[in-house]
Amino acid sequence: MDVFVIEGGRKLSGSLRVNGSKNAALPLLAATLLTNEPVTLRDVPELSDIRNMLRLLGELGVENDRDGSTISLHAKDESEIHARYDIVRTMRASICVLGPMLARRGMARVSMPGGCAIGQRPVDLHLRGLEALGAKIELDGGDIIAKVPQSGRLIGDTVFLGGPFGSTVLGTANVMSAATLAQGTTVIECAACEPEIVDLANMLNAMGAKITGAGSPRVTIQGVESLGGVDHTIIPDRIEAGTYMCAAAATGSSIELTNCPLDALMSANDRLEAMGVHIDPTDYPRGTSPEDPLRRTCTISAPEPLRPVQITTQPHPGFPTDLQAQFMALLCLASGNSVITEKIFPERFLHVAELTRMGAQIHRHGTTAVISGVRRLTGAPVMASDLRASASLVIAAMAGEGTTVVNRVYHIDRGYERLEERLGSIGASITRMSESEFSERGIGTLTQ
Ligand code: EPZ
Repeated sequence: MDVFVIEGGRKLSGSLRVNGSKNAALPLLAATLLTNEPVTLRDVPELSDIRNMLRLLGELGVENDRDGSTISLHAKDESEIHARYDIVRTMRASICVLGPMLARRGMARVSMPGGCAIGQRPVDLHLRGLEALGAKIELDGGDIIAKVPQSGRLIGDTVFLGGPFGSTVLGTANVMSAATLAQGTTVIECAACEPEIVDLANMLNAMGAKITGAGSPRVTIQGVESLGGVDHTIIPDRIEAGTYMCAAAATGSSIELTNCPLDALMSANDRLEAMGVHIDPTDYPRGTSPEDPLRRTCTISAPEPLRPVQITTQPHPGFPTDLQAQFMALLCLASGNSVITEKIFPERFLHVAELTRMGAQIHRHGTTAVISGVRRLTGAPVMASDLRASASLVIAAMAGEGTTVVNRVYHIDRGYERLEERLGSIGASITRMSESEFSERGIGTLTQ
């Protein structure tokens, strides 16, 4: 296992290009199961979650080959239908293969994903949605077994995907993908409106699907007999962009982001601007229409100190839960009391205890955390617990004084490509070491 050794207090300056989106890429990769023609995906980030998805697709007969950020995929052998526990347990997003495999191969056996560090993560809505299309679903030995009805195809219907915390992103991706090959028309009510769903619909339409309304709560899919190949460029990663914005704001720096999906970051930017952070598009002036609102160039600059704000996570276009932890790190240094309420994953607060080790003043009451800004954070050994919590520790470490050692950075590698090199290129001091190298150098102990 690797660790990050981070020297705090460095200002950032320079430019970073935002990578393609991990959370768009995963269902797009799974959707290659819907066709036996070649698919090319561009701007795919180099991440462990993507490698795991490619491994899973390989086991399911999809040959794949990476050349830089471009991946060529081709489902040549469509006989395998089992997504095994070995892979599913490493990555919940493996559930994305369920809908495409069921629709194209007539049957799917996918290991039931377990909970994870951010809490209980059921898949009941995915299953309810597929059942509404006529799928017969049973559980056997920890696996979900789904079969199309006797007619040999799923059958379009109206499907409601609302749950206790709003819609479901991957559930919408699963049902929408499956419905492309169903007989008749499917209407998904209470569909997730996230930009990653729009990207998936765009790719599926380019493959020959007939989807309208993606990005709104009602998505209509007119089923077709088959889908063809496609060459598709993935949208930029709004969460990676938001994380870099927080890093700039926390260190009182000014940086440029290119390929930045500003249009998908409205609520996060609203909160940053309320804190006093300036986000200035430099490609098209305000009031003009950019050619592609998801691929912008902008500068982020942060005068100190930041003002406290209130944040409530919500489904898109509300504030994304995937930026909650990073914003909490930022608010630790604001000049007053901030309140964050988590409404998507009520248990997503593992970063609180670690930030507290660095001197943060945070009091959690159920799904709400009150963050009292402090004058400074100080370096400490901390433990990464999940992807975004880990990113928040990196931000806090960069803004803090002294040396922070972030353990278990494999969580970060799931969703941020070479984070230490990319932030290092704009002035951060982050060194990756193996645990043994770290111990040999005698900087300290890895155990807390
Ligand atoms: C996606 O997960 C993302 N993952 C998550 O990003 C993100 O946090 C989440 O959407 C919410 O935006 C990927 O895209 C790979 P959900 P997903 O189903 O689709 C409840 C990251 O850090 N629910 O939209 O699995 C669920 O418990 C990751 O990159 C049900 O009740 O999330 C949650 O409270 C972490 N039943 C809410 O809905 C279901 O069947 C939203 O979850 C499904 C979900």
